[in-house]
Amino acid sequence: MLASVAAVPQASSQAPEARGAARTAVAQTPPMGWNSWNYFHRNVTEQDVKAAADALVSTGMKDAGYIYVNIDDTWQGERNADGVLSANSKFPDMKGLADYVHSKGLKLGIYSGPGPKTCAGYAGSYGHEQQDADLYASWGVDYLKYDLCSYIGIMQKQAPNDKPAQMRMMVAAYAKMDKALKATGRPIVYSLCQYGWDAVWEWAPSVGGNLWRTTGDIQPNWDRVYAILEQQAGLEKYAGPGHWNDPDMLEVGNGKLTEAENRSHFSMWAMLAAPLLAGNDLAHMSPEVLRILTNRDVIAIDQDRLGRQATRAYADGEVEVWTRHLEHGALAVAVLNAGSDRYATHPFRLNLSRLGLHGPQKAKDLWSGREVTLTNNEPIELAHHDILLVRIPQPK
Ligand code: GLA
Repeated sequence: MLASVAAVPQASSQAPEARGAARTAVAQTPPMGWNSWNYFHRNVTEQDVKAAADALVSTGMKDAGYIYVNIDDTWQGERNADGVLSANSKFPDMKGLADYVHSKGLKLGIYSGPGPKTCAGYAGSYGHEQQDADLYASWGVDYLKYDLCSYIGIMQKQAPNDKPAQMRMMVAAYAKMDKALKATGRPIVYSLCQYGWDAVWEWAPSVGGNLWRTTGDIQPNWDRVYAILEQQAGLEKYAGPGHWNDPDMLEVGNGKLTEAENRSHFSMWAMLAAPLLAGNDLAHMSPEVLRILTNRDVIAIDQDRLGRQATRAYADGEVEVWTRHLEHGALAVAVLNAGSDRYATHPFRLNLSRLGLHGPQKAKDLWSGREVTLTNNEPIELAHHDILLVRIPQPK
């Protein structure tokens, strides 16, 4: 199905269904960009969004593939008598902002939800789905994150104590916005945010989801990043071009994550074929954080066109080995020291035969940039929460 979708023309004379089908040609690799929430939370303003767009260009992140500039919650104002929503005073000119972002060769993302209120208590799209979709399209929005939040209350009210009926309502609410987006004829990435409920990975593509959150919210600390990582094992079969598991936006450069933790977080999100949506203050990041976010070799793993998400191959104590199949028969291998002991370097031996590999393997270490040869039972010493990420072009 997906192979033929890219060929669907986007002419506006088509029926809405066919025009919408063209939309699935977006997100053929995991979306990359920036989202306001993880750093700015409720405080985000138009100025912050413009500064992020400027920084994407000036830092080289755009050239590395970061294209979407996504405004999260708290941009919404009031509806007028006809139900048409305005942005609030923090965003005085949404169309102008979209034009600004587009003028830089970037794309604009926005946020809403199926309930009457968003998670932060701003206007949601309940009862105004088509109106809102049309509004986004008129502004030139390219990406919508649609967050369940207060729709949970509607589900509970309409189907009290009936979980299956509540889940059906939830799926229908996501399908409704999908239909509204499709009817606009504009290609808009559709990002589902309902925290992984009801095995969303099984049904999200059927409601047009290009990506879907698999868990509750990420936080800028290692325990939360790692807890989310652990919940991704087993979901690999649901990811592929146009439809991705979303373990949430990046916290690289936020909170108290150390350099090794930032590196491991970024590496593992790339292994997971996760959307790479930076969540830090791009206008004021350290060179080290920028270096991590723009490691082209690691980004190439994330963006590999096969779109196959990594599998956890095995764990040995507190060290985990993940593998990801890449185009042209290449293989990415990540060895992560998830150990809790800050001082243990976990001398570890990589068992290549457990990865189906035989004999020495020529590889590139994607963080040092060095060419290396891995042998069976290779001793690997990794600092606390650090990672070895290699690409083996011709695994044997
Ligand atoms: C939820 C989402 C977050 C963010 C906030 C905004 O918690 O999961 O990613 O969008 O809402 O209120």
